Amino acid sequence: MTTLIINIKELLQVRETSIAKVSGAEMAILPTIKNAFLVIKDNLIADFGSMENLPPIHADKTIDATGKMVLPSWCDSHTHIVYAGNREQEFVDRINGMTYEEIANRGGGILNSAKKLNETTEEEIYNQSKARLEEVMRLGTGAVEIKSGYGLTFDGELKMLRVIQRLAQNYPITIKATFLGAHAFPLEYATNHKGYIDLIINEMLPEIAKHKLADFIDAFCETGYFTVDETQQIMEAGIKFGLKPKIHVNQFNSIGGIQAGVKYNALSVDHLEVMKPEDIEALKNTETMPVALPSCSYFLSIPYTPAREMIAAGLPLALATDYNPGSTPSGNMNFVVATACIKMKMTPEEAINAATINGAYAMGISETHGSITVGKKANLILTKPIPSYYQLPYAFGSNLIDTVLIEGEIFA
Ligand code: NIG
Ligand code: FE
Repeated sequence: MTTLIINIKELLQVRETSIAKVSGAEMAILPTIKNAFLVIKDNLIADFGSMENLPPIHADKTIDATGKMVLPSWCDSHTHIVYAGNREQEFVDRINGMTYEEIANRGGGILNSAKKLNETTEEEIYNQSKARLEEVMRLGTGAVEIKSGYGLTFDGELKMLRVIQRLAQNYPITIKATFLGAHAFPLEYATNHKGYIDLIINEMLPEIAKHKLADFIDAFCETGYFTVDETQQIMEAGIKFGLKPKIHVNQFNSIGGIQAGVKYNALSVDHLEVMKPEDIEALKNTETMPVALPSCSYFLSIPYTPAREMIAAGLPLALATDYNPGSTPSGNMNFVVATACIKMKMTPEEAINAATINGAYAMGISETHGSITVGKKANLILTKPIPSYYQLPYAFGSNLIDTVLIEGEIFA
């Protein structure tokens, strides 16, 4: 099956040779071809170039993209879209003055979602989660990482990971699974942290590894959650089972989580709302991708990741949604890109790089996703007719997506 897209007003994120990520000043460069064509063969990008050089092609299907932009679909490297119910009441409580931390301290927050998840059947969790997955696919996401972490019991964590596996089997979108048993301490372990960490390391991890239910290991390294030392124990155990770390750090406090992540060669360190100069320093010359989650900053009214300082220091940066019921009930990568420009002062080029190739890196899939490169997956966004790609962040509340292709097939 060959699909030909012609008359593309501008083809974005064109990389002739595959790159793993872009860092520092390179982030401001977004290579494009104006008036372009693109050929899809067997679900992969087979060729592309300027319309002037369009070779004779027998296409089974031709799409005319006059006036439209084409770009690689978003790579959302940090989500928690498998969950049960919602936390609307906590949202209203926060409007009325409570903080996220106060709500967590009264037994709400992550523990509230864990209670709901453990009371909900696997089938029902699957049905709720697939609706969210379909929603984000329609919004242009073509690869997504999904975490466990609302089970916090052996059965609950395994249930979540099986739901993620089932989503991966039933949908064409690329899904990577992360085991986040270390998301919060369940109430029964409030004074026995060692007991819960033993449960994670000695019971959950071996079972998860046996059934190949996770690619990555995560922990919420934060005051009131997992200490740096506990996070290190979790990362070390995960690595022994072949799971690369991707960890939650520096959301509310800078306590050394980044340095720990770098020490264990984490694929990514995520959140980064609170960054000290030494945190930025620790990320220099490492393979660890910093990931910012601006929708979380927006929803909780907490600081935004200091993108300008980090890029000026030569670091790469990826953008992701953090879609979850508590801190970010939104999986809209278009909003993330716009908010990164508006609030973090990233340029449109930097934000698009951060949400495509660098997001792919943060899931370990930049060889197959995140740019227009021959041989990569034909996971693409075709926009509506727009004057330039600046519209994507500029018209932040509009849905500018016309068509989404996943593995070369029209999804929406
Ligand atoms: O990434 N910070 C930790 N975990 C999630 C939110 C968890 C929740 O409130 O349910 C996050 O923001
Ligand atoms: Fe998160």
